[in-house]
Amino acid sequence: MNAGNKRFILLVDERAVVRLTGEKPEEEQMGRLKELRKYVEQELNKMEDAGKRNSAVAHLYGVSLAATMIARKRGLDAELSSMAAMLHDLHAYKTGSYDDHAHKGAELAGRILRELKFADEAETDIICSAIYHHDDKLVTDSLMDEVLKDADVIHHCMNDLSKPVKEKEQARFDKLCAEFGM
Ligand SMILES: [Fe+2]
Repeated sequence: MNAGNKRFILLVDERAVVRLTGEKPEEEQMGRLKELRKYVEQELNKMEDAGKRNSAVAHLYGVSLAATMIARKRGLDAELSSMAAMLHDLHAYKTGSYDDHAHKGAELAGRILRELKFADEAETDIICSAIYHHDDKLVTDSLMDEVLKDADVIHHCMNDLSKPVKEKEQARFDKLCAEFGM
């Protein structure tokens, strides 16, 4: 990460924290998340394989809930974290490919957020950054990026406790267990 990039991420995180003070009424924030979920559900309904479609819905909602909890615990923006979670794997589900899905997913999320006016430019930057970095589980990025990575890991590791934890997610999962006293 170069110095310019780091400054951008710090600014983005400051905005995320500032929004916690409540620039918009809570009902308005919740309405936006509901609308975004409706849009995502419409997109997922285009998936022909019912099993894959159900898994996609469960994953996006699971990560969204985990992101809300993690963001709240860390004093960050829960709404933006939840929105990022609802969009984070949408590109992979729409195309059926995980090839570079984080970077392509960030591009898709940016288009959706701008075209449907779900978020302003600063918010779109925060959400797209989280999606762009969400597959980089072994490195640490901005505070908001880390919320999405951790939420993704929570769902991967806790959706079915009989499944072994992936090696690349073990250290992050252990840290989360310590943070949440699990
Ligand atoms: Fe995911």
